[in-house]
Amino acid sequence: MPQSPAFSNRLIEWQRRHGRHHLPWQVKNPYAVWLSEIMLQQTQVTTVLDYYPRFLNRFPDIERLANAAEDEVLSLWAGLGYYSRARNLHKAAKQVVEQFGGAFPQTRIELETLCGIGRSTAAAISAFAFNQRETILDGNVKRVLCRVYALDGNPQDKKFENQLWQLAESLLPSENSDMPDYTQGLMDLGATVCKRTKPFCHECPMSDICEAKKQNRIAELPRKKTAVEVHTLPLYWLVVRNQDNQILLHKRPAKGIWGGLYCVPCFENLADLYQYIQTLNLDSDGLNEQTAFTHRLTHRLLMITPFTADGRPSENISDGLWVAQEDLADYGLPKPLLNYLNQAQKSLF
Ligand code: ADE
Repeated sequence: MPQSPAFSNRLIEWQRRHGRHHLPWQVKNPYAVWLSEIMLQQTQVTTVLDYYPRFLNRFPDIERLANAAEDEVLSLWAGLGYYSRARNLHKAAKQVVEQFGGAFPQTRIELETLCGIGRSTAAAISAFAFNQRETILDGNVKRVLCRVYALDGNPQDKKFENQLWQLAESLLPSENSDMPDYTQGLMDLGATVCKRTKPFCHECPMSDICEAKKQNRIAELPRKKTAVEVHTLPLYWLVVRNQDNQILLHKRPAKGIWGGLYCVPCFENLADLYQYIQTLNLDSDGLNEQTAFTHRLTHRLLMITPFTADGRPSENISDGLWVAQEDLADYGLPKPLLNYLNQAQKSLF
Protein backbone atom coordinates (compact mmCIF):
# COMPACT_ATOMS: atom_id res chain seq x y z
CA MET A 1 0.00 0.00 0.00
CA PRO A 2 1.56 3.36 -0.99
CA GLN A 3 2.39 5.36 2.14
CA SER A 4 3.83 8.33 0.27
CA PRO A 5 2.67 11.86 1.02
CA ALA A 6 1.41 12.07 -2.58
CA PHE A 7 -2.16 11.48 -1.47
CA SER A 8 -2.28 14.14 1.25
CA ASN A 9 -0.27 16.71 -0.72
CA ARG A 10 -2.55 16.38 -3.72
CA LEU A 11 -5.65 16.51 -1.60
CA ILE A 12 -4.62 19.58 0.42
CA GLU A 13 -3.58 21.50 -2.67
CA TRP A 14 -6.78 20.58 -4.47
CA GLN A 15 -8.93 21.52 -1.46
CA ARG A 16 -7.29 24.94 -1.22
CA ARG A 17 -7.97 25.65 -4.88
CA HIS A 18 -11.22 23.86 -5.61
CA GLY A 19 -12.79 22.80 -2.33
CA ARG A 20 -15.56 24.38 -0.29
CA HIS A 21 -14.49 27.35 1.84
CA HIS A 22 -17.67 29.17 2.74
CA LEU A 23 -19.69 26.64 4.67
CA PRO A 24 -20.89 28.37 7.87
CA TRP A 25 -19.40 25.68 10.10
CA GLN A 26 -15.87 26.19 8.77
CA VAL A 27 -14.88 27.90 12.00
CA LYS A 28 -12.63 27.04 14.96
CA ASN A 29 -15.45 26.94 17.51
CA PRO A 30 -15.72 23.27 18.57
CA TYR A 31 -19.35 23.68 19.60
CA ALA A 32 -20.32 24.90 16.13
CA VAL A 33 -18.20 22.22 14.44
CA TRP A 34 -19.74 19.50 16.59
CA LEU A 35 -23.29 20.71 15.90
CA SER A 36 -22.66 20.74 12.15
CA GLU A 37 -21.06 17.30 12.14
CA ILE A 38 -24.01 15.79 13.99
CA MET A 39 -26.49 17.45 11.63
CA LEU A 40 -24.47 16.34 8.60
CA GLN A 41 -24.29 12.69 9.72
CA GLN A 42 -27.44 11.67 7.88
CA THR A 43 -28.54 14.90 6.26
CA GLN A 44 -27.52 16.72 3.10
CA VAL A 45 -25.55 19.96 3.22
CA THR A 46 -28.40 21.98 1.63
CA THR A 47 -30.84 20.91 4.37
CA VAL A 48 -28.32 21.54 7.14
CA LEU A 49 -27.69 25.04 5.75
CA ASP A 50 -31.31 25.73 6.65
CA TYR A 51 -31.44 24.17 10.14
CA TYR A 52 -27.94 24.93 11.41
CA PRO A 53 -28.21 28.75 11.74
CA ARG A 54 -31.61 28.52 13.44
CA PHE A 55 -30.31 26.02 15.97
CA LEU A 56 -27.14 28.00 16.62
CA ASN A 57 -29.11 31.20 16.97
CA ARG A 58 -31.38 29.65 19.59
CA PHE A 59 -28.56 27.81 21.39
CA PRO A 60 -25.43 29.86 20.72
CA ASP A 61 -23.20 27.97 23.15
CA ILE A 62 -22.90 24.72 25.02
CA GLU A 63 -24.29 26.09 28.31
CA ARG A 64 -27.45 27.28 26.69
CA LEU A 65 -27.95 23.94 24.99
CA ALA A 66 -27.22 22.03 28.20
CA ASN A 67 -29.78 24.14 30.10
CA ALA A 68 -32.51 23.85 27.46
CA ALA A 69 -35.62 21.70 27.77
CA GLU A 70 -35.42 18.57 25.61
CA ASP A 71 -38.71 19.44 23.92
CA GLU A 72 -37.29 22.71 22.66
CA VAL A 73 -34.18 21.01 21.32
CA LEU A 74 -36.39 18.49 19.53
CA SER A 75 -38.65 21.18 18.11
CA LEU A 76 -35.64 22.80 16.42
CA TRP A 77 -34.68 19.41 15.03
CA ALA A 78 -38.17 18.56 13.77
CA GLY A 79 -38.00 17.59 10.10
CA LEU A 80 -34.29 16.68 10.12
CA GLY A 81 -35.04 13.06 11.06
CA TYR A 82 -33.00 10.61 13.15
CA TYR A 83 -34.16 12.28 16.35
CA SER A 84 -31.83 10.30 18.59
CA ARG A 85 -29.19 12.70 17.23
CA ALA A 86 -30.97 15.63 18.92
CA ARG A 87 -31.45 13.79 22.19
CA ASN A 88 -27.80 12.71 22.22
CA LEU A 89 -26.69 16.26 21.36
CA HIS A 90 -28.56 17.52 24.40
CA LYS A 91 -27.09 14.78 26.60
CA ALA A 92 -23.58 15.44 25.29
CA ALA A 93 -23.94 19.17 26.04
CA LYS A 94 -24.73 18.27 29.64
CA GLN A 95 -21.74 15.90 29.69
CA VAL A 96 -19.38 18.65 28.46
CA VAL A 97 -20.66 21.04 31.12
CA GLU A 98 -20.63 18.51 33.94
CA GLN A 99 -17.55 16.45 33.10
CA PHE A 100 -15.33 18.94 31.27
CA GLY A 101 -16.32 22.23 32.93
CA GLY A 102 -17.99 23.46 29.72
CA ALA A 103 -14.77 23.25 27.63
CA PHE A 104 -14.92 20.83 24.73
CA PRO A 105 -12.41 18.00 25.01
CA GLN A 106 -9.81 18.12 22.26
CA THR A 107 -8.75 14.53 21.72
CA ARG A 108 -10.60 12.02 19.62
CA ILE A 109 -10.61 9.51 22.47
CA GLU A 110 -12.24 11.97 24.89
CA LEU A 111 -14.68 13.18 22.26
CA GLU A 112 -15.78 9.58 21.71
CA THR A 113 -16.97 9.43 25.33
CA LEU A 114 -19.71 11.97 24.49
CA CYS A 115 -23.18 10.76 23.56
CA GLY A 116 -23.73 10.45 19.83
CA ILE A 117 -20.07 10.91 18.83
CA GLY A 118 -18.50 7.94 17.07
CA ARG A 119 -14.94 7.59 15.86
CA SER A 120 -15.30 9.45 12.56
CA THR A 121 -17.27 12.36 14.03
CA ALA A 122 -14.79 12.62 16.91
CA ALA A 123 -11.96 12.71 14.37
CA ALA A 124 -13.69 15.42 12.33
CA ILE A 125 -14.19 17.65 15.39
CA SER A 126 -10.65 17.16 16.65
CA ALA A 127 -9.17 17.79 13.19
CA PHE A 128 -11.30 20.84 12.33
CA ALA A 129 -11.37 22.56 15.71
CA PHE A 130 -8.06 21.42 17.22
CA ASN A 131 -5.81 20.47 14.25
CA GLN A 132 -5.41 16.93 15.59
CA ARG A 133 -3.99 14.25 13.30
CA GLU A 134 -7.03 11.99 13.30
CA THR A 135 -8.73 10.56 10.26
CA ILE A 136 -12.39 10.57 9.37
CA LEU A 137 -13.87 7.56 7.60
CA ASP A 138 -17.43 7.98 6.38
CA GLY A 139 -19.10 6.48 3.33
CA ASN A 140 -17.64 9.10 0.99
CA VAL A 141 -14.10 8.57 2.25
CA LYS A 142 -14.45 4.81 1.95
CA ARG A 143 -15.45 5.27 -1.68
CA VAL A 144 -12.43 7.47 -2.41
CA LEU A 145 -10.04 5.00 -0.78
CA CYS A 146 -11.58 1.93 -2.42
CA ARG A 147 -11.16 3.60 -5.79
CA VAL A 148 -7.73 5.21 -5.44
CA TYR A 149 -6.31 1.92 -4.06
CA ALA A 150 -8.61 -0.46 -6.01
CA LEU A 151 -9.83 -2.23 -2.87
CA ASP A 152 -12.71 -4.58 -3.47
CA GLY A 153 -13.53 -5.72 0.05
CA ASN A 154 -17.09 -5.70 1.31
CA PRO A 155 -17.62 -2.35 3.08
CA GLN A 156 -19.94 -4.09 5.58
CA ASP A 157 -17.22 -6.49 6.64
CA LYS A 158 -15.65 -5.42 9.95
CA LYS A 159 -12.20 -6.72 9.03
CA PHE A 160 -12.18 -4.78 5.79
CA GLU A 161 -13.39 -1.68 7.59
CA ASN A 162 -10.48 -1.98 10.01
CA GLN A 163 -8.10 -2.12 7.04
CA LEU A 164 -9.66 1.06 5.70
CA TRP A 165 -9.15 2.81 9.05
CA GLN A 166 -5.49 1.78 9.01
CA LEU A 167 -5.04 2.95 5.45
CA ALA A 168 -6.78 6.26 6.18
CA GLU A 169 -4.52 6.82 9.19
CA SER A 170 -1.41 6.08 7.17
CA LEU A 171 -2.39 8.76 4.65
CA LEU A 172 -2.68 11.66 7.12
CA PRO A 173 -0.47 14.70 6.45
CA SER A 174 2.47 15.18 8.79
CA GLU A 175 1.64 18.78 9.75
CA ASN A 176 -1.12 19.39 12.27
CA SER A 177 -1.86 22.75 10.67
CA ASP A 178 -2.87 20.96 7.45
CA MET A 179 -5.54 18.87 9.17
CA PRO A 180 -8.58 21.13 8.59
CA ASP A 181 -7.93 21.49 4.84
CA TYR A 182 -7.02 17.82 4.49
CA THR A 183 -10.19 16.68 6.28
CA GLN A 184 -12.38 19.08 4.36
CA GLY A 185 -10.61 17.86 1.20
CA LEU A 186 -11.62 14.26 1.94
CA MET A 187 -15.22 15.37 2.37
CA ASP A 188 -15.23 17.66 -0.65
CA LEU A 189 -13.59 15.15 -2.96
CA GLY A 190 -16.10 12.44 -2.07
CA ALA A 191 -19.09 14.76 -2.25
CA THR A 192 -18.30 16.77 -5.38
CA VAL A 193 -15.85 14.78 -7.58
CA CYS A 194 -15.51 11.11 -6.64
CA LYS A 195 -19.28 10.69 -6.65
CA ARG A 196 -20.92 7.29 -6.47
CA THR A 197 -22.29 7.48 -9.98
CA LYS A 198 -20.78 9.49 -12.81
CA PRO A 199 -17.72 10.76 -10.95
CA PHE A 200 -15.79 13.68 -12.46
CA CYS A 201 -12.48 11.86 -12.86
CA HIS A 202 -11.12 14.55 -15.18
CA GLU A 203 -11.35 17.01 -12.24
CA CYS A 204 -9.83 14.67 -9.69
CA PRO A 205 -6.43 15.38 -8.16
CA MET A 206 -5.93 11.61 -7.82
CA SER A 207 -6.78 10.69 -11.40
CA ASP A 208 -3.22 9.78 -12.40
CA ILE A 209 -2.60 7.67 -9.28
CA CYS A 210 -6.09 6.16 -9.08
CA GLU A 211 -5.83 2.38 -9.39
CA ALA A 212 -9.55 1.89 -10.09
CA LYS A 213 -9.30 4.32 -12.98
CA LYS A 214 -6.18 2.61 -14.30
CA GLN A 215 -7.95 -0.76 -14.11
CA ASN A 216 -11.21 0.67 -15.52
CA ARG A 217 -13.09 -0.41 -12.38
CA ILE A 218 -14.54 2.91 -11.21
CA ALA A 219 -18.13 1.74 -11.68
CA GLU A 220 -17.63 -1.49 -9.72
CA LEU A 221 -15.76 0.03 -6.76
CA PRO A 222 -16.53 0.22 -3.94
CA ARG A 223 -18.41 -3.06 -3.84
CA LYS A 224 -22.14 -2.51 -3.45
CA LYS A 225 -23.70 -3.08 -0.07
CA THR A 226 -26.33 -5.77 -0.01
CA ALA A 227 -29.65 -3.97 -0.17
CA VAL A 228 -31.61 -3.89 3.07
CA GLU A 229 -35.21 -4.95 2.87
CA VAL A 230 -37.74 -2.19 3.38
CA HIS A 231 -40.68 -3.40 5.47
CA THR A 232 -44.07 -1.75 5.34
CA LEU A 233 -45.47 -0.73 8.70
CA PRO A 234 -49.11 0.31 9.00
CA LEU A 235 -49.76 3.19 11.39
CA TYR A 236 -53.10 4.63 12.46
CA TRP A 237 -53.32 8.23 13.61
CA LEU A 238 -56.12 9.56 15.73
CA VAL A 239 -56.72 13.22 14.94
CA VAL A 240 -59.05 14.49 17.59
CA ARG A 241 -60.00 18.07 18.38
CA ASN A 242 -61.66 19.51 21.46
CA GLN A 243 -64.29 22.26 21.62
CA ASP A 244 -61.60 24.92 21.29
CA ASN A 245 -60.38 23.23 18.10
CA GLN A 246 -57.16 22.14 19.79
CA ILE A 247 -55.53 18.89 18.71
CA LEU A 248 -54.56 16.10 21.07
CA LEU A 249 -50.84 15.33 21.04
CA HIS A 250 -48.82 12.66 22.82
CA LYS A 251 -45.09 12.63 23.40
CA ARG A 252 -43.65 9.58 21.71
CA PRO A 253 -41.40 7.18 23.57
CA ALA A 254 -37.69 8.00 23.29
CA LYS A 255 -36.96 4.79 21.36
CA GLY A 256 -38.36 4.01 17.93
CA ILE A 257 -39.95 5.99 15.14
CA TRP A 258 -40.05 9.76 15.79
CA GLY A 259 -38.59 9.10 19.26
CA GLY A 260 -39.33 11.93 21.69
CA LEU A 261 -41.37 13.99 19.21
CA TYR A 262 -44.95 15.05 19.80
CA CYS A 263 -47.47 13.25 17.61
CA VAL A 264 -51.20 12.61 17.53
CA PRO A 265 -52.07 9.30 19.23
CA CYS A 266 -50.51 6.70 16.96
CA PHE A 267 -51.16 2.95 16.83
CA GLU A 268 -49.82 -0.03 14.95
CA ASN A 269 -53.22 -1.68 14.78
CA LEU A 270 -56.81 -0.55 14.71
CA ALA A 271 -57.84 -2.54 17.77
CA ASP A 272 -55.54 -0.40 19.92
CA LEU A 273 -56.98 2.76 18.41
CA TYR A 274 -60.53 1.59 19.12
CA GLN A 275 -59.62 0.74 22.68
CA TYR A 276 -57.92 4.08 23.17
CA ILE A 277 -60.87 6.21 22.03
CA GLN A 278 -62.93 4.74 24.85
CA THR A 279 -60.64 6.51 27.31
CA LEU A 280 -61.67 9.75 25.59
CA ASN A 281 -65.35 8.80 25.83
CA LEU A 282 -65.56 8.66 22.05
CA ASP A 283 -67.48 6.12 20.02
CA SER A 284 -66.06 4.13 17.12
CA ASP A 285 -69.14 5.14 15.06
CA GLY A 286 -67.79 8.68 15.09
CA LEU A 287 -64.46 7.73 13.52
CA ASN A 288 -63.83 8.90 9.95
CA GLU A 289 -61.15 7.13 8.01
CA GLN A 290 -59.10 9.52 5.87
CA THR A 291 -57.08 8.78 2.77
CA ALA A 292 -54.02 6.75 3.64
CA PHE A 293 -50.58 7.83 2.47
CA THR A 294 -47.07 6.47 2.64
CA HIS A 295 -43.98 7.95 4.21
CA ARG A 296 -40.56 6.45 3.64
CA LEU A 297 -38.01 6.13 6.45
CA THR A 298 -34.61 4.58 5.82
CA HIS A 299 -35.60 0.99 6.53
CA ARG A 300 -39.36 1.26 6.64
CA LEU A 301 -42.25 2.34 4.54
CA LEU A 302 -44.97 3.73 6.76
CA MET A 303 -48.53 3.32 5.56
CA ILE A 304 -50.35 5.97 7.55
CA THR A 305 -54.12 6.05 7.89
CA PRO A 306 -55.42 9.09 9.77
CA PHE A 307 -58.77 8.90 11.55
CA THR A 308 -60.67 11.98 12.58
CA ALA A 309 -63.23 11.67 15.35
CA ASP A 310 -66.64 13.30 15.70
CA GLY A 311 -68.07 13.94 19.12
CA ARG A 312 -66.83 15.62 22.21
CA PRO A 313 -63.74 14.00 23.66
CA SER A 314 -63.28 13.94 27.38
CA GLU A 315 -60.61 16.52 28.11
CA ASN A 316 -59.43 14.90 31.32
CA ILE A 317 -56.66 12.96 29.71
CA SER A 318 -54.04 11.27 31.81
CA ASP A 319 -51.28 11.85 29.27
CA GLY A 320 -50.96 14.13 26.30
CA LEU A 321 -51.86 17.74 25.76
CA TRP A 322 -54.22 19.87 23.71
CA VAL A 323 -52.49 22.20 21.28
CA ALA A 324 -53.96 24.92 19.05
CA GLN A 325 -53.29 24.65 15.33
CA GLU A 326 -51.28 27.87 15.30
CA ASP A 327 -49.02 26.58 18.10
CA LEU A 328 -48.17 23.28 16.42
CA ALA A 329 -44.91 24.63 15.02
CA ASP A 330 -43.62 25.12 18.60
CA TYR A 331 -43.69 21.37 19.13
CA GLY A 332 -41.43 18.92 17.43
CA LEU A 333 -43.87 17.15 15.16
CA PRO A 334 -42.92 14.52 12.57
CA LYS A 335 -42.79 16.11 9.14
CA PRO A 336 -45.58 13.97 7.61
CA LEU A 337 -47.89 14.91 10.51
CA LEU A 338 -47.21 18.61 10.17
CA ASN A 339 -47.86 18.33 6.42
CA TYR A 340 -51.05 16.40 6.99
CA LEU A 341 -52.43 18.79 9.61
CA ASN A 342 -51.61 21.85 7.50
CA GLN A 343 -53.25 20.24 4.51
CA ALA A 344 -56.32 19.20 6.52
CA GLN A 345 -56.62 22.67 8.01
CA LYS A 346 -56.50 24.25 4.54
CA SER A 347 -59.29 22.03 3.26
CA LEU A 348 -61.51 23.13 6.17
CA PHE A 349 -61.65 26.70 4.87
N1 ADE B 1 -20.34 16.13 5.80
C1 ADE B 1 -19.93 15.82 7.02
N2 ADE B 1 -19.19 16.81 7.55
C2 ADE B 1 -19.13 17.79 6.63
C3 ADE B 1 -18.53 19.06 6.58
N3 ADE B 1 -17.84 19.52 7.61
N4 ADE B 1 -18.68 19.79 5.46
C4 ADE B 1 -19.39 19.31 4.43
N5 ADE B 1 -20.00 18.12 4.42
C5 ADE B 1 -19.86 17.37 5.51
